[in-house]
Amino acid sequence: MPEPKLPERERVFSGMRPTGRLHLGHLLGALPNWVRLQEQFNCFYCVADLHALTTRFDNVEHMKRDGVEMVADWIAAGIDPGHSVIFRQSEVKEHSELALLLGMIVPASWLERVPSYKEQIGELGQRIATFGFLGYPVLQTADIILYKASRVPVGEDQLSHLELAREIVRRFNGLYGPVFPQPRAVLTETPRLMGLDGRKMSKSYGNTIDIAEDPEIARSKVMSMFTDPARQRLSDKGHPDRCNVFSYHKFFEAPAAEVDEIDKGCRNATIGCTECKTRLADRILAALEPIRGKREALLAEPGRIESILDEGRARAQDVAASVLEEACGAIGL
Ligand code: TRP
Ligand code: SF4
Repeated sequence: MPEPKLPERERVFSGMRPTGRLHLGHLLGALPNWVRLQEQFNCFYCVADLHALTTRFDNVEHMKRDGVEMVADWIAAGIDPGHSVIFRQSEVKEHSELALLLGMIVPASWLERVPSYKEQIGELGQRIATFGFLGYPVLQTADIILYKASRVPVGEDQLSHLELAREIVRRFNGLYGPVFPQPRAVLTETPRLMGLDGRKMSKSYGNTIDIAEDPEIARSKVMSMFTDPARQRLSDKGHPDRCNVFSYHKFFEAPAAEVDEIDKGCRNATIGCTECKTRLADRILAALEPIRGKREALLAEPGRIESILDEGRARAQDVAASVLEEACGAIGL
């Protein structure tokens, strides 16, 4: 089969639902991956507000503000709007149209099979058992292929969506001719940062530290972190390899000599958890300080983020319109 026409420079696409402020898990996980890819590729990063609607259609009051806060976090963490295209999904109408067209060729059984579908309904209830939620991966596929993006930085939880996207592309190309490349996932390399309580870091568990967290609150959150349960007293010997605080020190790039000192001190009970956590809090606050400064400067300028999103919309639409036209032409519309 002939190859699809590809852009000169490979494109990257990713998105996040506007859930409000991002946390340290994003700062050390997804975002460095997004930032790194900017050097080599044309990147499109979207505020997936239509995807957010699949689960928060009845809680829309702060959605726009949540998107703006999230974009401020992105930029403060190093996404460069002069380079990457940052936009809102709902403002580029081509996403909706391509999703509708893809919906014609995607068997409902493929969607019912996606592991996250049943899981999420199990978790969030029948309230979200909608047409839109079933079609979540179709919309996600439209997002990606509307830019003929070949690489998609995502977490492991999105792998089944990417696999489905590839399947949808094969079906489209098989039916109408080679329009779209098959996108592949670029997995985040950094191991996952756990939440303050040792479970997965997630807003819904209330175990996060936000990128924009007030420094004193961030400090008290660090001081409340779970440590090795074997260390009840200062004289109890600990196991740093079982302690979340210890892994945070490494995530936040404590110098090797200090990691070593904490490791030994914990094992011999010569350093206490309070001191260990105080040092970690200092380390995290120092890392967040410049990011918070950048974020505040962005948000202090009225309309700054909106104008970034406006420009992003125009740049995204430019590509989206021409790819959609190609797709419609292939279908014979
Ligand atoms: N579904 C993704 C998530 O929940 C967000 C998303 C929307 C996305 N569209 C995308 C990710 C396109 C990658 C590519 O994290
Ligand atoms: Fe964890 Fe540090 Fe306490 Fe050891 S000293 S258990 S590494 S917090």
